[in-house]
Formats: sequence, C-alpha cells, structure tokens
Amino acid sequence: MSSIADIQKKYAGKLDRLDLELILAHSLSKTREFVLIHDDYEIPKFKIENLKLKISRRIKGEPIAYITGHKEFYGLDFIVNASTLVPRPETEMLVEQALNETWSMDHGTKNTYIIDVGTGSGCIITAIANSMEHGAWSMEQKKTTQYYATDISKEALKIAKKNAKLNGVEKKIKFLHGDLLAPLLSNSCSMFHTPCSMSIIANLPYLSKEIYQSAPVDVKKFEPKTALFSPEQGLAHYRKLLEQVKKSLVLCSMFHVLCFLEISPEQKKLITPVIKNIFPKAKIEFKKDLAGKWRVCGIEIC
Ligand SMILES: C[S@@+](CC[C@H](N)C(=O)[O-])C[C@H]1O[C@@H](n2cnc3c(N)ncnc32)[C@H](O)[C@@H]1O
Repeated sequence: MSSIADIQKKYAGKLDRLDLELILAHSLSKTREFVLIHDDYEIPKFKIENLKLKISRRIKGEPIAYITGHKEFYGLDFIVNASTLVPRPETEMLVEQALNETWSMDHGTKNTYIIDVGTGSGCIITAIANSMEHGAWSMEQKKTTQYYATDISKEALKIAKKNAKLNGVEKKIKFLHGDLLAPLLSNSCSMFHTPCSMSIIANLPYLSKEIYQSAPVDVKKFEPKTALFSPEQGLAHYRKLLEQVKKSLVLCSMFHVLCFLEISPEQKKLITPVIKNIFPKAKIEFKKDLAGKWRVCGIEIC
C-alpha cells in the first residue's frame, strides 16, 4: 500500500509539488485541500497504476491540463484535450476588456453580435456569454445580443460545444466551422444583412516563426501548432481577419464595430501599420497584462 506521503516522497525533486498535488487530487477524485491535509491517506491499490502513468506523463512535459482534462478560466471549468489550446490566464484580460467595452457600447434597439474567432476550447465566448447572461445586462440587451464562435478545427469545436453546455450557455452560442469570419460572411448566414453592432474577440495564432521555435518544448510537443503559429511575423491571421471585417462592412450598415485581439508584446509596433492599412481611421488602444507586457489590442473601427 502507498499513502499520499509515500508518493510525495518518491517524486520529490522529480516533479513540481503543486503539479503532484493536482495529479493526486484528480486521480483520487478528491480536492487539492484533501491531498494537503490527508497525507496519511492510503491510495487504493487499483488507482496506483493510473496515478503513476499520469505522473510519468507530467515528468515527460505534458501540460497538467491535458493530463487532468480540465482547466479553470475566468472562474469557470473547461474541458481541454490535445486539439485545443490550454486557456491562458492572460487571455482573461481579453474577456475583461471585451466585456467592459461591449457593455458600454451604445446598443439602442439594434442587434449586437459578439463573435469569438478561433474559439479553441470555447473559453472566451463561454466566459463572455456566462458573464453577460448572469450579469447586469437589461432584458432588452440580453434579447438583442447574439453569440457566435468559429474555428478551423472541427475537433476543437466539439470541445467548445461541450464547454458551453458545461457552463449553461450552449443555447446562447452558435458554433461555426470555417476560416475566421468566413462562415458568417457566407450567403447561408444572414446576420450581416440587418443593421447591427459587432464586437469581435480573437486570440488567434500569433507566434512568429522565431518565437514559435524558441517556445518551451512542452508547448511545441503537446499543443497544436495550428493554434499558435502564424506567418508574416505572427500577424497573418489578424491581417486576414481585419480584411474580412472590412468585407462585412460592405455587406451591411454597422453602427459600431469593435475588435479585441490578443497579441505578443513585440507586436504592438508591428500591428499598428497592418490595421491602419486596412482601416485608416480606426482608433487603436493597447493594454498591458498583469506582468506589464502589451497583450491586448483594442480597435474601434466605427
Ligand atoms: C491561440 S488558439 C486560442 C484558442 C482560444 N481562443 C483560447 O483563447 O484559448 C487559436 C485558435 O484559432 C484556431 N484557428 C487557427 N486558424 C484559424 C482560422 N483560419 N480560422 C478559424 N480558427 C482558426 C485554432 O484552431 C485555435 O483553436
């Protein structure tokens, strides 16, 4: 028989203590607090093999979230697997800013579309829909707000739908498969044919070739490259997205269009000419994350 203390002793120095606590808690279906307090708890024999397997996956560098299959984001629980990026804490800032500024948009009686492009696990749109629906929005605002999310990966979309359900907002969000905004611009989707306000939130692949190459092995080995790397110094996806936004403006009279893009700090200088080239009159504002690094590019297009 092995106790929690035996396992902790065996793997001390080989594995981060917090990671080991999380794996123990997950494997034993207990809380981390339980693991901390009950180090004399005898681990049932039938759970030992699976526990050791998970520990060895972590030692080989696999992100803890893929091992437990879950990640907390914006106070909510999200399922993750190898087809989705693990939601990052800095992305919570993108959610916060989109919520604040979409909230203060002049809605009137127009429709408001909130669109998460490259949704991955669905963490951004689920967190936003959850906050908006349970927050202080008026009934009118709730009725006229529609949520959309797109991704190029069908596998990621399956997980995103599960996460919307897990967090009680599956009926609010339409998940669409395709290239950036393309599924919304197609003839089959009529949303742009009525006057509306639009808030686009995107954490798209933005790592340049050099930054992707220098990323930790764990990231390169386990997380999907299609979720991280983008050509043109990491800005190809954002440039294409903004061109699609421009196309959508031709299709319909928009009252107000905002974009919130997560960026890598060194892209602050590079992204400005890309935006100005497509939208010369756009107002651009950058925000730093909690680590003091430029992280969010807010664009008021009209
Ligand atoms: C950096 S991940 C972000 C995932 C999620 N939004 C998050 O914050 O955790 C980028 C996502 O964009 C998706 N993606 C990549 N290229 C795309 C494209 N052309 N159109 C739509 N989604 C795309 C990837 O599949 C991936 O899920």
